[in-house]
Amino acid sequence: MSNSSWRFSKRALAMKSSIIRESLKLTAKPGVLSFGGGMPAPELFPVEELIEACRKVLTERPDEALQYGTTEGYTPLREAIAERMNKIGVPCTADKILITGGSQQGLHLLGSAFIDEGDYVVTARPTYLGAIQAFNAFGPKYATLPSDDDGMVVEGLEEILVEKSPKLIYLVPTFQNPDGRTIPVPRRKEILKLAKKYNTPVVEDDPYSELSFEGKVPEHMFSLAPENVIMLGTFSKLLAPGLRIAWLIAPNNECFDRCVKMKQGADLHTNTFAQHVVYEFMKTGALDGHVEKVRKLYARRRDVMVAAMRKYFPEGVTFTEPTGGLFLWVSLPEKINATELMPKAVEKLVAYIPGMAFYPDGGGDNSMRLNFSKANEEEIEIGMKRLGELFQEALNS
Ligand SMILES: Cc1ncc(COP(=O)(O)O)c(C=O)c1O
Repeated sequence: MSNSSWRFSKRALAMKSSIIRESLKLTAKPGVLSFGGGMPAPELFPVEELIEACRKVLTERPDEALQYGTTEGYTPLREAIAERMNKIGVPCTADKILITGGSQQGLHLLGSAFIDEGDYVVTARPTYLGAIQAFNAFGPKYATLPSDDDGMVVEGLEEILVEKSPKLIYLVPTFQNPDGRTIPVPRRKEILKLAKKYNTPVVEDDPYSELSFEGKVPEHMFSLAPENVIMLGTFSKLLAPGLRIAWLIAPNNECFDRCVKMKQGADLHTNTFAQHVVYEFMKTGALDGHVEKVRKLYARRRDVMVAAMRKYFPEGVTFTEPTGGLFLWVSLPEKINATELMPKAVEKLVAYIPGMAFYPDGGGDNSMRLNFSKANEEEIEIGMKRLGELFQEALNS
């Protein structure tokens, strides 16, 4: 509802504030240990290397780095990303890479390029909340499929494709935000076979596959069907989210051109200076070593969190144990509603994101997402103890 006399668009009036942003406001209370956000560990930001990259960019090519740029992005950066993608088995060329202001912008561009009001989008449930928000601006309906230990199930997908003719199948197939689950290759192939049969593009949103704690990850969906997958990658979790540098890999020229046109209207191009800085950083060869440090720290924090959960959580509470990424997923006994429990959690100085936020069409009331990348080991131990007490009290009441 509008409370001014200005006639905002129906679209604007329909948009709700993100529950994550709202929850984060609650957790601003001093002393609250928050496992709610999805923030990287700031102590790992490669500050000195970035200072050096900024210095080089500003002394060697200020005219270019501070100037307007092309909508597609800074060519050397696109080439460096293509090279890196090929190294991890994603076959692409620089001319199909569009630099975006975060993958969040990639999602928005895809929403604007594909979704008319009332069109269906397929997602897992749960799925990434930010994608729901980005798509919601275009008024879609959702056809969701549940997840098991191997991510979104395939049963029911063909019926949806036949009956609802969705415009997109949106997936975070590797270390999914919010539940940390990964779809194995045989299931990826089943999904891709159906997507191809019904001529429906798959969006592979992939911020986390390089953050694998055990080395190998399943082949990317883009690699399995490069003609039918639109891939999103980002430096947010590999380097620093404040840079807002990410990329979209289009499977064909038409998809690329349509996204470029949408982006022109949105912001002309991504921040030129930040693109140059990221390129300069990549050129030093420091990214691999940096990503290795990130992996090691997050693996350790995941271990500490899982051990503390085993120690403190009451019987009946289950959780995923992801082998990469930033998040895990907690399922509570049916009688506990994680959204209603949130104020009590904040009283106990601990916070999380209630699971229902990640369900585009309702559900997930007895679940929550926890982040293990930001808090240190001591905070994780204390936080899980507080959560364990909270769950026990809820079970007793
Ligand atoms: C699955 C997924 N997609 C997209 C994003 C947005 O990333 P970016 O910072 O590149 O906009 C996130 C951020 O957490 C994410 O988890």
